[in-house]
Amino acid sequence: MKNAIFYFSATGNSLMAARCLAEGLPESEVLNIANAVQKHSGGPYERIGLVFPVYMFGLPLIVRKFFETLKASSQTYIFAVATYGGLAGNALPQAAAILRRRGLRLSAGLQVVMPGNYTPLYGAIPLARQEELLRKAEARIGEFCALIKEKKECGPAGGVSLFGWLFEGVYRLGSPRIPQADKNFLVDANCDGCGVCRKVCPVCNIKMFGGKPSWQHACQQCMACLQWCPQEAIQYKQSTRGRKRYRNPRVQLKDFVVL
Ligand SMILES: Cc1cc2nc3c(=O)[nH]c(=O)nc-3n(C[C@H](O)[C@H](O)[C@H](O)COP(=O)(O)O)c2cc1C
Ligand code: SF4
Ligand code: SF4
Repeated sequence: MKNAIFYFSATGNSLMAARCLAEGLPESEVLNIANAVQKHSGGPYERIGLVFPVYMFGLPLIVRKFFETLKASSQTYIFAVATYGGLAGNALPQAAAILRRRGLRLSAGLQVVMPGNYTPLYGAIPLARQEELLRKAEARIGEFCALIKEKKECGPAGGVSLFGWLFEGVYRLGSPRIPQADKNFLVDANCDGCGVCRKVCPVCNIKMFGGKPSWQHACQQCMACLQWCPQEAIQYKQSTRGRKRYRNPRVQLKDFVVL
């Protein structure tokens, strides 16, 4: 394959984006970062794309690590797509900076708004609104594809703004606490022990004890366990009880079972 599109996704927005890119870019393989983080061969690929959600105005920790260890050469055309729910913050500038430090270049970047999935703060938006956002996202990704096919340079804007510093401050304070934040997950009496939460965790952070999930404090806060639980039995503190879960309507549970 000429092109690799690596994605990280908990509820399907970034997976949908990765699949759209692969449709528009022939000879592309779509690879899950959760499976590839230790064992991808690094090609050699002509183009490498990374597709991921924005967390806390920046990169998810697993994606950060992937950028830090990505196997590519200074000749590789690298692009990134960040999906987000409302404020994309610094995710693409962070990616560009990591690559720059490694002598690589982020040639093209796209931020694309999609339905938000951070259930501790809000429930899923109505289905009709989801569909509207997803159609717009597909159109924007299609346009972006035309640029990356031609290997155009359209990276994220450089320079440092006041908001950029604020976003960075929040990220630097908050992101080190992410792995331990799973202590806020609770499992309620609706749990039937099916194990779906364990199977979808991208970092194998859930073990089952006595038929109930137990979180192991190496969490990414992706919310896959909470969103995919068929019984809605996983809560984050008390805030998520009765709140509508979100899963991108273009994906299925089987897409998220980590190998
Ligand atoms: C832990 C966490 C933090 C998030 N932080 C942000 C954020 O800072 N800004 C934003 O716009 N969306 C934020 N979101 C929403 C996601 O970026 C958005 O819904 C994304 O498209 C989900 O992608 P996925 O379906 O591929 O997992 C956050 C979601 C999670 C789970
Ligand atoms: S997915 Fe839900 S019902 Fe199934 S084991 Fe996990 S918490 Fe229990
Ligand atoms: S424990 Fe849940 S929130 Fe944490 S990484 Fe696994 S699936 Fe995501």
